[in-house]
Amino acid sequence: MWWRDAVLYQVYVRSFADSNGDGIGDLAGLTARLDYLEWLGVDALWLNPTFPSPDADWGYDVSDYYGVHPDFGTLADLDRLVTEAVRRGIRVLLDLVPNHTSERHPWFRVEHRDWYVWADEPTNWRAVFGGPAWAWDEREGRWYLHSFLPEMPDLNWHEPGVRAEFERILRFWFDRGVAGFRIDVVHRTVKDLRLRDAAGRGRVQRFPPTDVPGTHELIRAWRRLADEYEPPRLLVGETYVLDVHEMATFYGADADELQLAFNFPFLHASLRAAELRRIVELTERALPEAAWPVWTLSNHDHVRFPTRICDGDERRARCALLALLALRGTPVLYYGDELGLEQGPTPEPPLDRARPSRDGCRTPMPWDERPPAVTWLPNGDLSRNVAAQLKDPDSVLRLCRDLIGLRRELAAAPYETLSTGPGIWAWRRGGATVAVNLSARPAHVRPVEGVVRVSTDRSRDGEHVSGRLRLEPWSGAVVG
Ligand code: NOJ
Ligand code: CA
Repeated sequence: MWWRDAVLYQVYVRSFADSNGDGIGDLAGLTARLDYLEWLGVDALWLNPTFPSPDADWGYDVSDYYGVHPDFGTLADLDRLVTEAVRRGIRVLLDLVPNHTSERHPWFRVEHRDWYVWADEPTNWRAVFGGPAWAWDEREGRWYLHSFLPEMPDLNWHEPGVRAEFERILRFWFDRGVAGFRIDVVHRTVKDLRLRDAAGRGRVQRFPPTDVPGTHELIRAWRRLADEYEPPRLLVGETYVLDVHEMATFYGADADELQLAFNFPFLHASLRAAELRRIVELTERALPEAAWPVWTLSNHDHVRFPTRICDGDERRARCALLALLALRGTPVLYYGDELGLEQGPTPEPPLDRARPSRDGCRTPMPWDERPPAVTWLPNGDLSRNVAAQLKDPDSVLRLCRDLIGLRRELAAAPYETLSTGPGIWAWRRGGATVAVNLSARPAHVRPVEGVVRVSTDRSRDGEHVSGRLRLEPWSGAVVG
């Protein structure tokens, strides 16, 4: 279970590193930056969709599950990325999109129209990106379901052909050495096709109704397949639910579903001690014995965390990163998190069709202060760049690297809340104490004994603590 000790790093390939100057990040660019990722200490990469796509939803509308998007390179480039990553002890996860395909996928165009969800009369279901969830198809003289954009018809998971095809897809990539998949909207994959209007007003309906038992059964089948491999392949689900107990169900009653289920309550929390503590404690209680939590502050669908919850205050961003990397569970960094990168600008008109636009969290990775001549999205703040932060011993980047290093020592130690005053969140992990002061007043945490191993204020590293730990406003430390 390598992922328990791992730090995952999410790469939005289109924005990470451009090898040929066309303004679009690509696989060769990412491969060229593996030394950086190895230095940072991450163990696995999750790549946003790498498949051919007309990009109605920037890769989430897949038109060929067996290929590589020409903007990103070739299958040989992907194989090379995997090989080069493995050489550095880094695994590669891809992003599986089973809920829908592109309308331009040959299955929808001609080959398997029966693999989609059709209705003679539309229901009042709404699409996640707004508007009705049904679109008219002239050729069929019927309506097809789309949970997202009309260009993204939903697959019908009650069709055995769809199941068989996706098993082939999983095997195709697992056989190439891909270490696992992040699975898009996994919790909603199988639909309840009784085609009944949603109760109440259609406008409040958020997503076509789900066949919950069917979805769990499907995840179990994928897990059995993933477990056939050595080492077992990892399934990380985009379990977008705001109830921790519901999230916990996706690990499976017998730990036989996802190995990791994303924790959206944590991603949606503000940077308040009481709120974060509550979610973490709830998660610790809700997860089945054999399950392992996963924590995230940012991803490609949300405002970057330094802007979203830190008010652009770097002290707060450091506290958030310290907490993320010292919790029990697998942390996932979104590219740029390690720099404290803030939300970037949104072009006019926006490229992303969801509202509010997600362009601002997908801006190019700032490698140095000189931006490439062309970029597919406008650059954000270039002052927070890799080159500058590598040189600065006090940078957010160095803090992240040191926290990742320290994490290995905390290993599997359980999480145990330490009682503190308001605004403070502190916990023990084995012999170590982790504490963050998420308030504007200085505070003390006790009892704490040991040496400051890593502090958000780096001048305190190495300090001896006996009895109580003083924390300045918006600061934190790991003591052990
Ligand atoms: C969730 C993905 O994270 C998001 O970016 C995408 O738009 C939807 N699923 C649809 O695939
Ligand atoms: Ca390129």
